[in-house]
Amino acid sequence: MEKPSNTLKKIYHPSKEVKKRANVKDYEPLYQESISNREDFWAKEAKRLEWFRKWDKVLDASNHPFYEWFQGGRINIVHNALDRHQKNATRNKLAIIWEGEPGDLRTFSYHALHREVSRFANVLKSMGARPGEVITIYMPQIPETVIAMLACAKIGAIHSVVYGGFSVEALAERIEDANSRILVTADGGFRRGKAVGLKSIANEAMKRSPTIEVCITVKRTGEECYMENDRDFWYHDLMSMPLACSDCATVETDAEDPLFILYTSGTTGKPKGLVHTHGGYAVYTASTFRYVFDIKPEDRFWCAADPGWVTGHSYMVYGPLINGATMMMYEGAPNHPYPNRWWQMIEKYGINILYTSPTAIRGLMRFGPSWADRHNLSSLRLLGSVGEPINPEAWKWYYEVIGKGRCPIMDTWWQTETGGHMITPLPVIPLKPGSATKPFFGNEMAIVDDRGNEVKTGEEGNLVIKNPWPGMARTILGDPDRFVEKYWEKYSEQKWYLAGDSARKDEDGYYWIIGRIDDVIKVSGYRLGSAEIESALVSHPAVTEAAAIALPDELRGNIIHTTVVLRQGVEAGDKLSEELKAHVEHEIGPIARPAFVVFTDALPKTRSGKIMRRVLKARALGQDTGDLSTLEE
Ligand code: WT7
Repeated sequence: MEKPSNTLKKIYHPSKEVKKRANVKDYEPLYQESISNREDFWAKEAKRLEWFRKWDKVLDASNHPFYEWFQGGRINIVHNALDRHQKNATRNKLAIIWEGEPGDLRTFSYHALHREVSRFANVLKSMGARPGEVITIYMPQIPETVIAMLACAKIGAIHSVVYGGFSVEALAERIEDANSRILVTADGGFRRGKAVGLKSIANEAMKRSPTIEVCITVKRTGEECYMENDRDFWYHDLMSMPLACSDCATVETDAEDPLFILYTSGTTGKPKGLVHTHGGYAVYTASTFRYVFDIKPEDRFWCAADPGWVTGHSYMVYGPLINGATMMMYEGAPNHPYPNRWWQMIEKYGINILYTSPTAIRGLMRFGPSWADRHNLSSLRLLGSVGEPINPEAWKWYYEVIGKGRCPIMDTWWQTETGGHMITPLPVIPLKPGSATKPFFGNEMAIVDDRGNEVKTGEEGNLVIKNPWPGMARTILGDPDRFVEKYWEKYSEQKWYLAGDSARKDEDGYYWIIGRIDDVIKVSGYRLGSAEIESALVSHPAVTEAAAIALPDELRGNIIHTTVVLRQGVEAGDKLSEELKAHVEHEIGPIARPAFVVFTDALPKTRSGKIMRRVLKARALGQDTGDLSTLEE
């Protein structure tokens, strides 16, 4: 990202109207209070939720880094997201407005959603689903995805949503790691006017990881798909049986019981299943949603992410529903059939808050402002951005063309690991385009060098979080050592969390995120690991070794560049390079498709055998390769 000072120095102050309706009028005093009495702050926030039993202790920090929040408390996030709303007027309010890509529309009131979730929870129980077991959900963006997630949580099962854009190996690996017995999927979904098959991919994945005993398929596209006797069931068949009745008790879980796992990419090939809980996660997503998006009962909120990523979990499903908000969900591509699709929906449904990614904004910006200008976007009052740093040009376009200079942009920095927003503006915080601004309540950050000394103002360093927060991931499923090693080992003395991003802080205390310091690659805001791409390449018979790196790209933030060493006797060429790209796409998914495949005889490695990706990057960019003294002969 370019230096902020080069493009836009302007500070955007909140308007009178924004200040007037803001849930928090003044950030600083509440922030000071929240960090000097962290536990009191979070206890107060937790009291907004309904607990079956109140906690004994807000925070137990005795077993660092395995923190426990609201210890002794009994709660279920679904009780807070659905059940308790049945007792008041929220019952009649829309929970979900959903539009399919072909233009079909479905809506669910809180009453209807509660009913569908209860019915599907009974279906899951009839299939033997038990509290504590992991149920995998591999779906397009349809309401049944949300229903399935909530149904799992309602009965105390743990959901593991695998993004519908992932493919065979990515899905198989996640099913296997979680030892999942039940899979919920769909025949497919619509994307750019075409039916994209999911069940066929699920079938191939189930062959590779045979733990699945029951697979429930939602009919969405109506395509032909193979169904296996005794294993495969149609969702609509099960939901039409008497067992799918709308009466289903919500299980009383412990505050620290796992709610879901979500896999994310790290440095090694194996994705990490981060564990989030019923109690702390509910409190954290509810509070961040309420303060950052300044939610009001009359609002219609649209998070244009996929439920398969943490953004979808926290700000399509749990944050909005706990707050009794109305959320919009859309199935397909932003520019289908024309680049005005989103703006048309904002006008049609009267959306007030739009939360999306810099990539999506850059993608729509390409088509020019006239597509947005054809629509009345006056319902919008707040905008949001997430996933990668937003470049000032895209920020300005979003602010002016979409927000008409009236809507503050909440550039929210967070991670799958953090559960919710960590550095983020509130509507009343003056904005600097490209900066995520300040820490959310309760959080203290710092920019430090490798030894943990704070770097000078304006200098780049490692971003660390100095305190525990309720939404933090508790561990990596089945691998607590890796959890310690990845996030807590580097600054173990100080007990700081290593975020994996480099950043700087300016003279006003504003944070500017620069990018990842590890082998995580962000393509269009999606998180991939170089090792994942490398193992997909090596699984092809022609390849013996591979290295993947990120190269900067104007539209997608980054693109994937790969270098491969071929097996002896295999001939390099354009045909093979296309075949390898398609292979990665088939194994991991379209987002992982390399933009470049370069053939080489040997990869640059250190004497200890580590691939020097830095050298590959410099070469690919035609830059000086720097110090090569550690390079192996
Ligand atoms: C990484 C986490 C959090 C939901 C989606 C991403 C990058 C995220 C921002 C932002 C600059 C950002 C970081 C972070 N990132 N938001 N507002 N500004 N960078 O979750 O897939 O776990 O990725 O996304 O590099 O570490 P994720």
